[in-house]
Amino acid sequence: MSKTLIKNIKSLYQAGEDLPNIVRGKQMAHVPVIHDAFVALEEGKIVAYGKMSELIGIDDWSNLTVIDATGKSVLPAFCDAHTHLVFAKTREEEFVDRINGLSYEEIALKGGGILNSAARLNEMSEDELYEHAVARIHRVMSYGTGAIEIKSGYGLSVEAELKMLRVIKRLKQSMPIPVKATFLGAHAFPKEYKEDHRGYIDLIVNEMLPQVTKEQLADYIDVFCERNYFSVEEMEEILLAGKQYGLTPKVHVNQFSVMGGVRKAIEYGALSVDHLEEIADDDILALQESNCMPVALPGCSHFLSIPYTDARRLINAGLPLALASDYNPGSTPNGNLSVVWSLACIKMKMTPEEALNALTINAAYAMGLESSNGRIALGYAAPVLITTEIPSLAFIPYSFGDQLIEQVVC
Ligand code: NIG
Ligand code: FE
Repeated sequence: MSKTLIKNIKSLYQAGEDLPNIVRGKQMAHVPVIHDAFVALEEGKIVAYGKMSELIGIDDWSNLTVIDATGKSVLPAFCDAHTHLVFAKTREEEFVDRINGLSYEEIALKGGGILNSAARLNEMSEDELYEHAVARIHRVMSYGTGAIEIKSGYGLSVEAELKMLRVIKRLKQSMPIPVKATFLGAHAFPKEYKEDHRGYIDLIVNEMLPQVTKEQLADYIDVFCERNYFSVEEMEEILLAGKQYGLTPKVHVNQFSVMGGVRKAIEYGALSVDHLEEIADDDILALQESNCMPVALPGCSHFLSIPYTDARRLINAGLPLALASDYNPGSTPNGNLSVVWSLACIKMKMTPEEALNALTINAAYAMGLESSNGRIALGYAAPVLITTEIPSLAFIPYSFGDQLIEQVVC
């Protein structure tokens, strides 16, 4: 049995037995903290924590690794509820096109963007895709990610979507952190279906979905509901089919335009609605009537120079908010959630505490892990993060771009 005791922790954040599964509105400004604390882990689970003066719960001190965290802080690992981390090639040439004046949407209309990634992915073997993804997961884990959702959507054919999802399934089995799989066959219309939306939707519904379910390749279903991509009606049809196969929606909505997708996705039982760079009053109302988690992706806003999700508007409306990376080769080539934390504070005017709730408890909820990840509580899963000697919680997002997570304890 491997056991670890982290002792003399200056501040232990997000710890407690009575924390909610969703942190909403004004509650988001509060993160519980225990000073002069310890955490004990056994077989990857938290088995005890509290004040040093109450160091109990460890019956057997043999085979125990002791880490002295004097002056350092400990937090639960972040949960990344939205990534496209399985991909074949980076797209820095489109980055240069955008510097030279083209927009993300213009590049996509020229056949770049998602279709570019799909062409590259079709050329790459399953093993090679897997090896690249493993390296990326190890890298984001070193930045503090302790659970990750990964979407398909760079296949766009039956075989290639299944190939991507099989890679994600292998990652689930081999990675030391939880991996959730989302089927995003409806990421873009392939060139040959540009004028035949019916044909591609039939392919998704009649060929991809049955096989995805048969091989148990997905936990969730996603649609990129956006102008030039999937309309609200097309999304509805796909979510309805997904529902018949037991897949809960987690969707891309309101990245560039408001089309009414938020309310519709919620009607189909969406666990999360992601992006929301654009928000209408009715989106807020629909969210208020539900337990659906809005997810903001500030790395995407930063990289594409598009608006940031209006976090203050959502939080002032009493709503929760989660933050995720959107790690992908086109709109967010970075999966570092400490960077996301900084962007949320600097650009979205979230307080450091609000952003930490959004990266832990709310993010865990947005990927169905509220009972196992995203907080320091008995029975919850490692990893936990040990910081360098920081003066305060705010120092982490303040030090944008710095790596203040010194150790990730699994
Ligand atoms: O979340 N918006 C849709 N999908 C991704 C980007 C995909 C790409 O450009 O490769 C996103 O930003
Ligand atoms: Fe995305």
